[in-house]
Amino acid sequence: DKGGHKHFMAKEIAEQPTVLTSALNYYLDETGITLPDPGLDFARIERLTMVACGTAYFACLTAKYWFEQLAGIPVEVDVASEFRYREPPIAPGTVALFVSQSGETADTLAALRYCRDKADRIVSVVNVAESSIARESDLPLPILAGAEIGVASTKAFTCQLGVLITLALKAARDKGRIDDTELATHLTALRGLPGLMNIALDQADRTRALARKLAEARDILFLGRGPMYALAHEGALKLKEISYIHAEAYASGELKHGPIALVDKTVPVIVMAPTDALFDKTVSNMQEVMARGGKVLLITDRKGADQAAEGVWNTLILPEVDPLLAPILYAIPAQQLAYFTAVAKGTDVDQPRNLAKSVTVE
Ligand code: M6R
Repeated sequence: DKGGHKHFMAKEIAEQPTVLTSALNYYLDETGITLPDPGLDFARIERLTMVACGTAYFACLTAKYWFEQLAGIPVEVDVASEFRYREPPIAPGTVALFVSQSGETADTLAALRYCRDKADRIVSVVNVAESSIARESDLPLPILAGAEIGVASTKAFTCQLGVLITLALKAARDKGRIDDTELATHLTALRGLPGLMNIALDQADRTRALARKLAEARDILFLGRGPMYALAHEGALKLKEISYIHAEAYASGELKHGPIALVDKTVPVIVMAPTDALFDKTVSNMQEVMARGGKVLLITDRKGADQAAEGVWNTLILPEVDPLLAPILYAIPAQQLAYFTAVAKGTDVDQPRNLAKSVTVE
């Protein structure tokens, strides 16, 4: 049932504020964060190894910034197909964390089994609660996104991020890096996020109009810094999966080390830049793109647009948000741009060519 939408993907994009609210309600109460039994105390955890594929991998990449910045826990992130054959040493004090919507991805499951007798704990962040990855974990953490039918993952991504930021905040508290008051402030911001997502979803008409233009492009670049770099990857993956337009993500600071050679007036460059501590740096990279004729779509907040929109091709304005939570909010326009671009191109949005929902063979 597409709930009145043209595609499952559209329905699943629209559901995000609701499903994220259920996910947060599951982990948060008035007293703070509660994990299902047997819990997890980060106080003694020295490092985290996070492994996944595709969109779930980009959720891990985003969470690396959170765990490192908030909790001071070093994080290694890898794609499962590399991790499992690389056979990396797992030091004592490591928690191995696997993220998977289906819980059946062959490479992720193999990576989990590799860690079985090596890591202190096996934690998984999964959507399908009765899946192999959930069953084989010491602590399976559900994301409660509900069935995701569209091959392009959307609501699972934002719910994965919702659970991962909650874990990172718990880790920060367990490690004594934040106190109860700071934790409460972060949790209030987190609880407010679904409301902001609704405002972002309301931009659909504008996003659709921009996507019609993007549909004419052959190549599209996504740029971001910090956690927005991870989201840039997700934006590029979403776009290529369903619109078949070649899209790549770069850390904005890497641009001048090569990729800027790709920029000309035919290449739209999507810059994801909330006004955070790194905003000015991203803007200066964006200006380098514009100086070479690049067509910039700046996704930012009102403050960012007032400061930096001069000379850009277009802007998309999102509500102001706690910079920590920006990747979750900015996922909405990233998904919508991909969706409307694919619709404009007339591709099979829910069943894109060559792709399967669950990759159970390696
Ligand atoms: O079920 P999983 O989360 O383990 O799946 C991982 C990837 O196959 C998946 O995220 C894939 O990249 C999606 N098609 C992305 O939209």
